Amino acid sequence: MTFYDEVGGHETFQRLVDVFYREVADDPVLKPMYPEEDLGPAADRLRMFLEQYWGGPSTYSEQRGHPRLRMRHVPFRVDPDARDRWLRCMRAALDEVQLSPLHEATLWDYLERAAYAMVNTMDSAEAGGRPTLATRPAASSPASAEGTTETP
Ligand code: HEM
Repeated sequence: MTFYDEVGGHETFQRLVDVFYREVADDPVLKPMYPEEDLGPAADRLRMFLEQYWGGPSTYSEQRGHPRLRMRHVPFRVDPDARDRWLRCMRAALDEVQLSPLHEATLWDYLERAAYAMVNTMDSAEAGGRPTLATRPAASSPASAEGTTETP
């Protein structure tokens, strides 16, 4: 029994990304980052990735190839503000799907590490391009980008 099965399989991941993208659609920083107006295809990609990562079908790799998520995020400005907004949307989604405390803690721990690993600039837009001291350097994020975002 994989984690994917334990939390309820496809239905659970579908609900998670549905709520997540509903929140993204309302976020003034995140929404404009998405190249497509329709967030549906992006939701499918995130869902397929998460399903595969947690032991479900490997549809993501069949359709998209090797995840290389850090590389795929290079075109986007993932600064600490974007990361925190992404995590806020994900937190809302996790709260809504209501997993067992252990499953929830496991998934949240992973998502938090992955989000920290995805940060690719410390220049916050508000600071006019100057690095801020209040942010956490990518080099000391809790997990390496590769380890967090590829296969378990
Ligand atoms: C930290 C803040 C993050 C931001 C602002 C962000 C933003 C984006 C954007 C704008 C896209 C392009 C939308 C698309 O066409 O698919 C994208 C793609 C994607 N993101 Fe993120 N992301 C973040 C973190 C993460 C994390 C932590 C994960 C995984 C746990 C993730 C997984 C993905 C996946 C699987 C794709 C589709 C990649 C592909 O196959 O092309 N993202 N992200």
